[in-house]
Amino acid sequence: MTHSVLTPDTHASRSASRRHLLQSLQSVDTIESPQQQPTAVQHDPNAALISATGMYKSYRKGRLIIPVLKGVDFAIQPGEFVAIVGQSGSGKSTLLHLLGTLDEPDAGEIHFEGNRIDNLPSKAKDVLRNKYFGMIFQFYHLLPELSTLENVLMPSMIGQGVLRYWWNRRDHAQRATELLDMVGLGHRLTHKPKELSGGEMQRAAIARALISGPQMLLADEPTGNLDRQSGTEVMRMLRSLNREQNLTIIMVTHDSTIAGMADRTVRLVEGLVERVG
Ligand SMILES: Nc1ncnc2c1ncn2[C@@H]1O[C@H](COP(=O)(O)OP(=O)(O)OP(=O)(O)O)[C@@H](O)[C@H]1O
Ligand SMILES: [Mg+2]
Repeated sequence: MTHSVLTPDTHASRSASRRHLLQSLQSVDTIESPQQQPTAVQHDPNAALISATGMYKSYRKGRLIIPVLKGVDFAIQPGEFVAIVGQSGSGKSTLLHLLGTLDEPDAGEIHFEGNRIDNLPSKAKDVLRNKYFGMIFQFYHLLPELSTLENVLMPSMIGQGVLRYWWNRRDHAQRATELLDMVGLGHRLTHKPKELSGGEMQRAAIARALISGPQMLLADEPTGNLDRQSGTEVMRMLRSLNREQNLTIIMVTHDSTIAGMADRTVRLVEGLVERVG
């Protein structure tokens, strides 16, 4: 089946199957980690899309312990576009990585659609990230030896397994091409990342983040390496994905103009959320 990425109902039409899959991740938990307590599925449709409660995180460097997050609480509603700001070193990337299950909090809980996700085993987290979360980073993280189109296809190859991917390869390629058209890169499908500009690489990374039809985009300084014009273009794109496809976006930025384009700003100060508004 071919999915159009351009229709606003894409998000809604997939949400039921996503919910089912998300809940089934809890059984991955029980099957693959018998030592862990099985987590009860408590799906509350009124719950935030993602929430963190009492979250602590420190890093250890030799004998030094660096406390970064000291009891962060916050919640993001479905369809929100939130900017996380704060001084360099305040823990913005740390927070984003925890929300994206790339790292684990020392204490506290993270819930996604009412299901606890911070304690899932790593395979379940991989599935969660592949199916539900799109991620973009300041330095794009495109694979240099792959073309633009292949980079965008990569999450489908990983998520589907080789056989299933091969069986549906034409649909995947069509969807990836539609996404690259949408971000204005339809004429750069065979270019390698080094043959793209910074703004084009970030747009390719956005297309890659959208290939699995995620519910939430996590973006760490998506405009941090771009000139003002390319940065504004990327922001317009994120804004329109948020408004037209109801994509929830959590974006870390240093830049107050960029943060001002989000619906809401969350500021990290001394390991805590200072102000939400
Ligand atoms: N793996 C690590 N080991 C030790 N310390 C770390 C590690 N990762 C981050 N830190 C420290 O944790 C603090 C928070 O880092 P983080 O990357 O979250 O900050 P940030 O707010 O994203 O900063 P920036 O705006 O500069 O990107 C910093 O002081 C950093 O030096
Ligand atoms: Mg950072």
